[in-house]
Amino acid sequence: MKVGIPKELSKQELRVGATPKNVQRLRKQGFEVFIQKGAGQRANYADKEYEEAGATLVDSAKELYEISDIILKVLAPTNEEIEMMHKGLVTLSYLWPAQNQELLEKLAAKGVNAIAMDAIPRISRAQKMDVLSSMANIAGYRAVIEAANHFGRFLNGQITAAGKVPPAKVLVIGAGVAGLASIGTAHSLGAIVRAFDTRMEVAEQIESMGAQFLTVDIEEDGSTASGYSKVMSKEFIEAEMALFKEQAKEIDIIITTAQIPGRKAPTLILKEHVEVMKPGSVIVDLAASTGGNCELTKDGEVYTTDNGVTILGKLDQLPTQASQLYGNNLCHLLDDMGKAENFKIDMEDDIVSRAMVTYDGKINWPPKPLPVSPQKPKVVEAPVETGPTDEEIAKKKAKSTIISLAVIGAFLFLLGKVAPADFMGHFTVFVLSVFIGWQVIWNVSHSLHTPLMAVTNAISGIIIIGGLLQTQDDLSNPMTIIASIAILVASINIVGGFFVTHRMLKMFKK
Ligand code: NAI
Repeated sequence: MKVGIPKELSKQELRVGATPKNVQRLRKQGFEVFIQKGAGQRANYADKEYEEAGATLVDSAKELYEISDIILKVLAPTNEEIEMMHKGLVTLSYLWPAQNQELLEKLAAKGVNAIAMDAIPRISRAQKMDVLSSMANIAGYRAVIEAANHFGRFLNGQITAAGKVPPAKVLVIGAGVAGLASIGTAHSLGAIVRAFDTRMEVAEQIESMGAQFLTVDIEEDGSTASGYSKVMSKEFIEAEMALFKEQAKEIDIIITTAQIPGRKAPTLILKEHVEVMKPGSVIVDLAASTGGNCELTKDGEVYTTDNGVTILGKLDQLPTQASQLYGNNLCHLLDDMGKAENFKIDMEDDIVSRAMVTYDGKINWPPKPLPVSPQKPKVVEAPVETGPTDEEIAKKKAKSTIISLAVIGAFLFLLGKVAPADFMGHFTVFVLSVFIGWQVIWNVSHSLHTPLMAVTNAISGIIIIGGLLQTQDDLSNPMTIIASIAILVASINIVGGFFVTHRMLKMFKK
C-alpha cells in the first residue's frame, strides 16, 4: 500500500504529516512512502532526510494524490486538494467535522474515506492517537515560555545580595490537557500558580500539579460524561468573571484555555479585567482561534494594550517536535488499522467508526457518544525511599567509629612495644589528628564539600588536638590558658561552619 505525504498549502501551517522518523516506522509497517518535495521544509526536515529514511520524492501534489492509497496531512483539505483526490482514498488529517458540514459533503461526494484526527474518541485505548492532547500539551508548555518572554521579570522568587524578588503569579483558566501542561511548566519555573475550571473533578489534578484550585460560591459542576465541560449558567459565568476581576489586580500572567467542543470559546476576561491588570502583565489566549477567552484578543496577533498588558493571540507551533508527535499519533492509528498487510476499515471498531467521518460515499457524523476516561495528570513522582532509615545509618556510623578506634588503639599498642618513646608521642598526635580531621570533614553536607570547607575544618581539628596536648592539670599555667582559648576558637569555627552551611542549604530548599 502506498502512503503519501503532501506539502501543506497554508503558509501559516509549519507542521508536516510525517517526519523522517515516522517514515522509517511506516516502512516497518510495510507501507511504501511517497513525499512531495519540500513538504517537511517548514518543520526543519530536509528532502534528503526523507529519502534516507526510505521515502520516494515526488515533484507535484497531483502526482502524489494519484499514486497514494492513504494520505497523511495536517490541515483539513482545501477544495484544490479535494479535486486531486480519487474514490476510495483514505485521508488522515484535522477536519473539525462539527463546524465543516460542507467539507464533509464534498469528501463524501468524491468517495473519500476521511478520518478526522480531531474526532478520535478520548478513551484510554486511543490516547496514543489523540492529536488534540499531544498538540494541547505543546501549546500549554509554550504558553508559559512565551508569556515569560514577554513578562520582563523572573518567574521564581529570589533572595539575592542585591535584594528580594517576589515570585510571579500565574492564573490558568481551564485545566484540560493544555491547562495542566501550563500549570506544570509555570510551577516548575517557580511561579505561584492558581487555576480555575468548571469541572470539579479536576480539582485534585490541579492541586497535584502544584497549583491552588480557585472556586466560586455557586453549586454547579460543569463535568459531563463526554469528559468536556457543559455550557455553564449565566450566573456561574458572572460569578467566574467576578473572581477573575478580583484576581486580575494581583496576577501577572493569565493563561486561558477554556473551550467547549463545537462552540465558540466562552468569553471570560473582559476589557475591564484587562484594565485593572498591572502594566507589564501578560495574557496568553489559547482559545484565540475559536473566538478567544479574552474580549481583547486578536487571533494570530501579539499586541500591547494602552495600559501595558501584552495579549498573545498566537504561539510558536514548535513545528519540528509537533510534527514528530502528530506523525506518531497517525502511525499509531495505522498500526491499529492493521498496518500495510492487513489494512482494514473496521466500522465496528470504537475508534475508527467515530473518527471516519465520511465512508463509502456517505457522511458518518455525528457519531454515537462514548464516555471518556479521565486523563491522569503527569505528576512527577518522588522516588520511593527504599534505603536504610536515619536510625539505622546512625547505628552503623557509631559501630564503624568504635571499630576504627579499636583498630587504631590496637595498632598503637603493638607499635608502642617496638618503637622508641619519642616517636610514639609524635605518631599518636599524627594518627589522632588524621582521625578527628576525617570525622569532622565527613559530616559536611555533600553539596558543600568544597576544598575550602574541608581545609578549614582539618586545620581546626589539628588546632584542637594541639591544644589538648598542651593543656596541663594546673589551670593557672599560661600554656593551659592559651591552649584552652585555641580549643574554644577552633570549636567555634567548626560548629559555626556547620551552622552557616545549614542556613545556606535552607535557602535553596523551597
Ligand atoms: P478542552 O480543550 O475542550 O477544554 C479545556 C478546559 O476548559 C476543560 O477542562 C474545560 O472544563 C474548561 N472550561 C470550559 N468552559 C470553562 C469555563 N467557562 N471556565 C473555566 N474553564 C472552562 O478540553 P481538553 O483539554 O481537550 O480535555 C478535556 C478533558 O478530556 C480532560 O481534562 C480529560 O479529562 C479528558 N481527556 C481524556 C483523554 C483520554 O484519552 N482518556 C484524552 C484527553 C482528554
